[in-house]
Amino acid sequence: MTGTRVPPVLVTGATGRVGRAVVDLLLDAGVPVRALTHRSDGAAALPANVEVVTGDLTVPESLDAGLRGVGAVFLVWTAPPATVPAVVERLATHARRVVFLSSPHQTPHPFFQQPNPMAVLHADIERLITAAGLELTIIRPGMFSSNTLFWWAAAIRANDAVRWPYGAAETAPVDDRDVAAVAARTLYEDGHAGGDYVLTGPESLSQAEQVNIIGDVLGRRIKFRELSPDEFRRETEGSWPRPVVDMLLAAWGATMGRPAFITSTVSDILGSAPRSFRQWAADNAAAFMEGPTPSS
Ligand SMILES: NC(=O)c1ccc[n+]([C@@H]2O[C@H](COP(=O)([O-])OP(=O)(O)OC[C@H]3O[C@@H](n4cnc5c(N)ncnc54)[C@H](OP(=O)(O)O)[C@@H]3O)[C@@H](O)[C@H]2O)c1
Repeated sequence: MTGTRVPPVLVTGATGRVGRAVVDLLLDAGVPVRALTHRSDGAAALPANVEVVTGDLTVPESLDAGLRGVGAVFLVWTAPPATVPAVVERLATHARRVVFLSSPHQTPHPFFQQPNPMAVLHADIERLITAAGLELTIIRPGMFSSNTLFWWAAAIRANDAVRWPYGAAETAPVDDRDVAAVAARTLYEDGHAGGDYVLTGPESLSQAEQVNIIGDVLGRRIKFRELSPDEFRRETEGSWPRPVVDMLLAAWGATMGRPAFITSTVSDILGSAPRSFRQWAADNAAAFMEGPTPSS
């Protein structure tokens, strides 16, 4: 180690799936971290040895204190798009580098090529960061393995069938821990400015196969009940945002009959193979078991 003081990394989305793991990995690597939350109780979700700052991406000036003196920012955008230009302007005033959690909207595979508002938002953010002269690294994960917790855990815990459309549609679920590990590596290792990394899991699995793997791990058979797209729209009405439902249906529908797009990027960057969906399911089996919903 040199005596030079390393400037902190501001981690946005720090209480979320990927950001929370990035916080831990940066701390492990000895990088000073500032963790952003827009909730007054957000600090409770973060380790005691991290500097927690409050700020809201929809209120750009609220980010100033957290941005002062940072070297790099890990940017996760789950807020509405209106304040993106003002926030990027502030990032450029304070930081040199941004690692942005985006999506593979440029990948020429039908699964990723369906028009959707998220892709437009991500493309706009990438364009604005580049135009602001910041060094940019883009992390583009495909489907997270952990989506299946939100999608299927309630039915599986209740011993019900998983009611889902496009059971034969194949994806290559990527473990959030691998996404976080790549993001953290690009934040503390030189040479990733301009990097554009599409991250996938190691294998193409149909959605019905993913349900079967969870069943294998739990040691019981989980029934899969195929829904038509319209049945799925009706069943998610009122509980899921319609644009998200339409985006997913379009992507699954477009990929029918094709294997999922797979990259070697996780192993290229980390030097170790990406975790399989089976591994993810085994490590998260408790969340699919009967009883009260686990807290994490
Ligand atoms: N799920 C997938 O399959 C998938 C695939 C590719 C890309 N992605 C992208 O991954 C991103 C989501 O990552 P994730 O799953 O790690 O997120 P997440 O678990 O949903 O967490 C979202 C984070 O954003 C923070 N947040 C929400 N509103 C905010 C605001 N107004 N100001 C500041 N912070 C705010 C929340 O923190 P506080 O509440 O503590 O402020 C929370 O930590 C999205 O951009 C998504 O498009 C997801």
